[in-house]
Amino acid sequence: MKHLLKLGDLTREEILDLLGLADQLKFERKNNIPHPVLAGRTLGMIFQKSSTRTRVSFEAGMYQLGGNALFLSSRDLQIGRGEPVQDTARVLSRYLDAIMIRTYAQSEVEDLARYGSIPIINGLTDYAHPCQVLADLQTIREYKGTLQGRKLAFIGDGNNMANSLIVGGIKTGMSVAIGCPKGYLPDADIVKWAQRCGDLTITEDINEAASNADAVYTDVWASMGMEEEADRRRRDFAGYQVNAKLMEYAKPDAIVLHCLPAHRGEEITDEVLEAHAGEIFEEAENRLHAQKAVLVRLING
Ligand code: CP
Ligand code: NVA
Repeated sequence: MKHLLKLGDLTREEILDLLGLADQLKFERKNNIPHPVLAGRTLGMIFQKSSTRTRVSFEAGMYQLGGNALFLSSRDLQIGRGEPVQDTARVLSRYLDAIMIRTYAQSEVEDLARYGSIPIINGLTDYAHPCQVLADLQTIREYKGTLQGRKLAFIGDGNNMANSLIVGGIKTGMSVAIGCPKGYLPDADIVKWAQRCGDLTITEDINEAASNADAVYTDVWASMGMEEEADRRRRDFAGYQVNAKLMEYAKPDAIVLHCLPAHRGEEITDEVLEAHAGEIFEEAENRLHAQKAVLVRLING
C-alpha cells in the first residue's frame, strides 16, 4: 500500500491488516503502552473544507506515534492562490513524510499522489471518505465480532460515505443495502463493481434497506460544498430518516452509526442518536486508531 486514495485500491487483506493494527494501537493507547514508531516523522494536513474529527484525530495520532502534524489551511497555502497541485506536491514531498488532504475533487488527491513522492491520504473528497470507513469497519467488528456475512444498511444520500461504505463493506464480506431517493444514487461504477463482486441492494424503500440489518448508518442530507442545495435536499430526503420506526426493521441488537457531524431531526432523530451514542462515539474514537494504523503502514511499510 503506497497511498490511501480510496478503498477500492486496497485488497481485502490490506483492509483487514489495517483493522488488526488499529485494534492493537487502540489496546496500546488504552493501556498506556507507548508506541512512538513514527518518531521524527511529519504529516502535512491540507484542509480545503472544515473538520473536527479528521483534523484532531490525525494531529493527536501523529503525536501519539512520536511524530508531528502540520495543519495547512488551503486559505494560507499558495494552493489557495492558484499554485498548481503538481508543484505543491513536489515541494511538500521534500519536507514531509506523508500528506493528508481534504478537498472537493478526487482528481486533486490522485494528482498529489501522481506528482509527489510521499504517501498521500484522502481525508475526504466529494467521492470518498476511506479513513472514516476504516473506523466504521473497526467499530462494526468490535460490536458484532465479525464483518463477513453481516448486513450494513445506509440510509440517505448516495454520497462519499455511501460510496466508501459500499466498497469497504463488500470487500470485507458484508452485504450492503443503500436506501436512497431517485436522483441521489451512489457512484455508478462503484455500484456496478459491487453488484458484480458482492451483495449490494439499492432501493428507494428504506424499510427494505434496513430490514434485518446488523448496522444502520446515515449521514447528512447536504454534504460540505452543497450548502446551496440544502432546501431542495430537505424536501427530497424527507422520509429518509433513521428513527425509532425504521429501527424496528433492523435486527433487535442492531447498532447505529453516523460519521458525524449529525443534523438531529433531519437524517436521524435525537432519540435514536442518543440511544446509540455508545457506538456512535466509539466510532468517532476509532478514527484515531484506524488512522494511526494507516500512518504506520504508509510511512513505515
Ligand atoms: N466524520 C468526519 O470526517 O468528521 P469531520 O468533518 O469533523 O472531520
Ligand atoms: N458527507 C459528509 C461527510 C462529513 C464527514 C460531507 O462530505 O460533508
